[in-house]
Amino acid sequence: MSDSLSLFSLSGKVALISGCTRGIGKSMTLGLAEAGADIVLLQRDINNTTVYDAIKALGRQCYIVAYDSSDPSSVRTVIDRVLQVVPTFDILVNNAGITRRHSADTFPEEDWDLVLQVNLKSVWQVSQAAGRHFLALKKPGKIISTASLMSYQGGILTTAYAASKGGLATMTKALANEWASSGIAVNAIAPGYVATDLTAALKSSDREPSISSRIPAGRWATPDDFKGPVVFLASRASDYVHGELLVVDGGWMGR
Ligand SMILES: NC(=O)c1ccc[n+]([C@@H]2O[C@H](COP(=O)([O-])OP(=O)(O)OC[C@H]3O[C@@H](n4cnc5c(N)ncnc54)[C@H](OP(=O)(O)O)[C@@H]3O)[C@@H](O)[C@H]2O)c1
Repeated sequence: MSDSLSLFSLSGKVALISGCTRGIGKSMTLGLAEAGADIVLLQRDINNTTVYDAIKALGRQCYIVAYDSSDPSSVRTVIDRVLQVVPTFDILVNNAGITRRHSADTFPEEDWDLVLQVNLKSVWQVSQAAGRHFLALKKPGKIISTASLMSYQGGILTTAYAASKGGLATMTKALANEWASSGIAVNAIAPGYVATDLTAALKSSDREPSISSRIPAGRWATPDDFKGPVVFLASRASDYVHGELLVVDGGWMGR
């Protein structure tokens, strides 16, 4: 492998990833494993072995650790539970995310709390625990979270989602400011419109033509469009990248 290609190798690294069972996270997980990483899957249903089986078929080590980002106790304990199955790790990908769509004037408080818990508070707490692990061992680490175009824009019917992803964006920068000097890189990937379960209702709504016509690339993203970006931010290739939101949107933000 040439020197510059080896910058992208994740051989010998261990990556934790949430939201790995389907959609963007499933492709990110396969991308990390294809680049050489062993994987710890943080997932709600520990009996779902679909992604586990795919990682093992690639010849990587793989473990499943129960994780429900809506459950504060699961969030607080997850890194300790990970460290019972692997001695250390190098990469954390916070990808689990949800949305709830309501008009702003009737947005229910319980849905606000749930979206903020799953998309923001849990990301802070798991990142904090991962950061503590890296700092205690004085080892470099990579923390990557999944942001959104709603980190920049308000969206429609998405008050809580926009608040969560806006907060995630600035939190990414805040963590990077404190940890970059210790070799811990904290960054985020901001996807544009990606065809997944999360966006199925939007994709089949009457808003779809106006969305598609605004995307310079001329198509929605597929989950596999996120393999390259996550490998870049997880690897030595991005060692001087800190506090960045890598927008992967087919050019949407440029319009
Ligand atoms: N699709 C888009 O256009 C788009 C655009 C911008 C940003 N994003 C972001 O990208 C990320 C992935 O989205 P996606 O479109 O791939 O969504 P998706 O297909 O709906 O998948 C969501 C993933 O998150 C997991 N998850 C949901 N709630 C969880 C919880 N309480 N605890 C643990 N895991 C949980 C799901 O696990 P289960 O299988 O257990 O439900 C699943 O693996 C999210 O952060 C989302 O906000 C998506």
